[in-house]
Amino acid sequence: MPLIPDETIERVKTATDIVEIISEHVQMRQAGRNWLGLCPFHNEKSPSFNVNPELQIYHCFGCGVGGDVVKFLQEIDKVSFVEAVTFLAERAGIPVTRPGGSSTEDERNDQLFQANELAAKFFHHMLRQPAGADALRYLHKRGLTDETIDEFRIGYALPGWTSFLEMAGRRGFAPPVLEQAGLAATKGRGHYDRFRDRVIFPITNLSSRPIGFGARALRPDDKPKYLNSPETPIYHKSGVLYGLSRARDSIRRSGTAIVVEGYMDVVSLAQGGVDNVVASSGTALTGPHARLLARYSERVVLLFDGDAAGGTAAERGVEVLLGTEMDTRIVTLPTGQDPDSFVHRDQGANDLQQLIDKAPPALDVYLDRMAAGIDLNSVTGRARAIERLLPLISECKEEVRRSLMLRRAAQRLDVDETALRADLAAAQSRPAPARREPEATPDSPPPPAREPAMVNKLERQFAGLLLQYPRLLAATARRLDLDVFTDHEVRRLLDYLVSAYPDGRLDLTALLNSVDEDLSRLVTVCAMETFDADYVDEIWEDHVLRLQRESLTRQIDEAKRAIRRVNETVGPGEELDRLRTRQNELMAARMALEARRGGAGS
Ligand code: UTP
Ligand code: MN
Repeated sequence: MPLIPDETIERVKTATDIVEIISEHVQMRQAGRNWLGLCPFHNEKSPSFNVNPELQIYHCFGCGVGGDVVKFLQEIDKVSFVEAVTFLAERAGIPVTRPGGSSTEDERNDQLFQANELAAKFFHHMLRQPAGADALRYLHKRGLTDETIDEFRIGYALPGWTSFLEMAGRRGFAPPVLEQAGLAATKGRGHYDRFRDRVIFPITNLSSRPIGFGARALRPDDKPKYLNSPETPIYHKSGVLYGLSRARDSIRRSGTAIVVEGYMDVVSLAQGGVDNVVASSGTALTGPHARLLARYSERVVLLFDGDAAGGTAAERGVEVLLGTEMDTRIVTLPTGQDPDSFVHRDQGANDLQQLIDKAPPALDVYLDRMAAGIDLNSVTGRARAIERLLPLISECKEEVRRSLMLRRAAQRLDVDETALRADLAAAQSRPAPARREPEATPDSPPPPAREPAMVNKLERQFAGLLLQYPRLLAATARRLDLDVFTDHEVRRLLDYLVSAYPDGRLDLTALLNSVDEDLSRLVTVCAMETFDADYVDEIWEDHVLRLQRESLTRQIDEAKRAIRRVNETVGPGEELDRLRTRQNELMAARMALEARRGGAGS
């Protein structure tokens, strides 16, 4: 149980806007009273992720996740309740003391976040100390201003073997934790700093918290040129893009995400005023990267180095992106140039922006490159080209787009389009080829889609009404028998609500934290129902009557079935009379109800 006082939690939540927090992770538009977007917890094409600003909760109708802002941060950042509240408190400027915890997985992750944050602070601080003078000079020489250095929190790791370990040790971080955080390595029994005598680029998650580092050597003979954090429980490379938390808004606004290869490219472009730029850090672009970008924009421009490696990286990037619905473009820089060097030229930022605006479709460039590497005049050459191309085209899920790609490819490779189409159909009926890259998911996804078994819309709405207007709970308990609810979970929820909040003072957060996973899911889904606040009592009355009516109808049907059964087996007698009487009573009750409903004027 969290040890932060409830009162503090309340203050933090009051000071926080769930829409603002979630907007940092999900692009949403307003739909009625709610905000709607693509769910960050599962893969979907049409938005089913809802945020209700009045109740300050979210729910995904696709995969069933939901909760309050604290729960959202817990799930998206994989941190504990305490860490999520502390994070929000710091954001809101509310003082909290972090209670010491036990050792659940989330609490372990908290420590890793804290260790990475401490490291980022330490490295950044050291850059401006005498020991960091060379590193700072190096960055200045590469054209970075102090403002840029601070904005990206660029730092410097000291040359000693244990500078960071010792400092972190004094703050209570044991070497094994630092090792797990990717900040220390071991040799034999001893630990030592992973990053030594290097310029440090902190890599952050979407909440702008450092989760890993890219560390550049200061001298050409220091190898490797860049040393990166390893994968850790909080840093999954295939799901993280360097610079995204900062670039996000600009990507949204411009409708374009620019993808570059290096840390320095991101930083220099940002300094040059090109803000909508990210890099994959120390890995090739992956499917999860592409999906991450697709949350914010529909257009991606690959801006890779003008060298062979850049070409290969671009090719792989295209292969990943063609399978998405994004409009993918490529800018090829002059040989020997990378975005960083290009933007530092006279008029560099301007020229770059022009190249980006006019970037040709990635497929065309891809086909050209392929055509250059394969002899398309020979039959085997063309067959090889087609063999490489078909899996890519078949990755594309959209019919129209696939068709266009097919036409382009046929034209460029000078083959018959119908024949190519037939090949594609054949390729698609074969099992999918093994992927080039493991499809690691950015954040481990929630359990498979499991919408609470809620077949009954009316019951769900009614539960939603009570959650939002808990003052109606007492009247509900008086008027309705829980038996009128067919949905077992709804019944369980209402049973709980009525007994836990007899005074009608319900706190949604407390509720979500005190019920089991199934019920908390149900709560968020129900609470998404919207009602006209001016007619709450009328709506409640109408629902009560309808629920009673449906219940009576079910009982009447039941009685009729029993009558038929008894008639066929036993025949006339006491049993049959009893059932008939019961049926009549039920029907009378239903008629009385209908009269009342008519009288209520709804
Ligand atoms: P580059 O070799 O193109 O370096 O690597 P760069 O970005 O131009 O860097 P500067 O300008 O020389 O400082 C591109 C990216 O590939 C990864 C890094 O993410 C780097 O930014 N990389 C490169 C590594 O992870 N390790 C390496 O040894 C080299
Ligand atoms: Mn470079």
